[in-house]
Amino acid sequence: MTIQKRVTRNHHDVDEYEAVHVLQLLTEDHRTVEQLFASFDEADGRARQGIADDALHAVEVHSAIEEKLVYPAIRKATGEEDLVDEAVEEHHVVKFMIKELHKMKASVRGYRAKFTVLSELVNHHIIAEESEMFPKAEQSGVDWHTLGREALKMKDRMMKSSRRHRRAA
Ligand SMILES: [Fe+2]
Repeated sequence: MTIQKRVTRNHHDVDEYEAVHVLQLLTEDHRTVEQLFASFDEADGRARQGIADDALHAVEVHSAIEEKLVYPAIRKATGEEDLVDEAVEEHHVVKFMIKELHKMKASVRGYRAKFTVLSELVNHHIIAEESEMFPKAEQSGVDWHTLGREALKMKDRMMKSSRRHRRAA
């Protein structure tokens, strides 16, 4: 489900955002990102840049939400320090690669290789979250739906500001 479907009319009130389970939201993001990676793989030439930009942006927004809202809550509720620390380190590498990819054009030699390594890293990260972190977190007493609402709000804000950026560019 896209974020638009979850946001009602009043854009100034946090209650406009549906209270959705945040782990469900993150899992939906994972499927979106996987699809974009697969599309990149199948696309050729011109189409590749747009797909890559969308994929990088989706990973950036998703990671920011995890780092700001979800990981701290999971860390606190589960005490799984190592698990969360590893996820943060993976984000660190992912961010570094995204930064490099932003400086390149999808058409240049080397882009595809770098993008492929990034997608492998992210896919590994997704598996770790869904097979270990999320199931453990699920057992803890986090208010998932309040967190989901906050996550939607943050996502909406980040999407709007990046759209403004793209228009200004
Ligand atoms: Fe994730």
